[in-house]
Amino acid sequence: MPFGCGPGIDTVALGRLVGTTGCVVGIDIDSEMLEQADVAAADAKLDGVVKHQQADVTALPFADEWFDACHAERLFQVLPASYSANTVLTEMLRVLRRGGRLVVADTDWATASVDYSDALLERRLMSFFATQLRPNGYAGRQLYSLFQQQRLEDIQVEVFPLVQSDFKQSPLGGWLTGEALAAGIATQSELDGWTAELAARDAIGQFYWSVNMVVIAALKG
Ligand SMILES: C[S@@+](CC[C@H](N)C(=O)[O-])C[C@H]1O[C@@H](n2cnc3c(N)ncnc32)[C@H](O)[C@@H]1O
Repeated sequence: MPFGCGPGIDTVALGRLVGTTGCVVGIDIDSEMLEQADVAAADAKLDGVVKHQQADVTALPFADEWFDACHAERLFQVLPASYSANTVLTEMLRVLRRGGRLVVADTDWATASVDYSDALLERRLMSFFATQLRPNGYAGRQLYSLFQQQRLEDIQVEVFPLVQSDFKQSPLGGWLTGEALAAGIATQSELDGWTAELAARDAIGQFYWSVNMVVIAALKG
């Protein structure tokens, strides 16, 4: 059961693991995401075991203890402040059977790091990204405390660094600079310098950006 399954990358991967007797149900609030997820499952010839359903993570249309395992990847970072992360986790645990496994992965945007000549501007922009361009950019580092507040056993945390060496694939281009300019975080000249230097680094294979993903797993007690 992936929560906030998006276009089905999670559900298709899990569908390959559960075999023909298992079942994966991905839920998402966005109907366009669900359509893409259905196409991805059909393309992978997994539409027999992988299903997608529209629902809000705070009100799951499933009975208590319905699933053997629950999973959410990059969900908590997109939840607006009006959502309580504790409430979401409690709802995920409601539909998980006792002894079932819960796995949550999310980004700790506080760890975003770019090799850039002006480290103070880089810190300013990364802090702006984490606090203003993600509804909850610090979701990854908050997972351990969230898990500790629930009745969970065998909590295990691992941190995986993501490394991006392609500027165009990173979130550091026009979106970031446009928003930073509008918010008065940096001047046009600083942002022009940012874009020019990162593009130049990219052209000679010297662009580097990394950020940590926190993965936490536990059993429902
Ligand atoms: C960043 S995407 C991650 C998608 C997928 N898990 C992945 O890692 O590829 C977050 C997803 O959470 C969904 N989402 C956001 N708020 C939600 C809510 N309240 N209930 C269900 N899904 C939600 C979004 O529609 C989006 O598809």
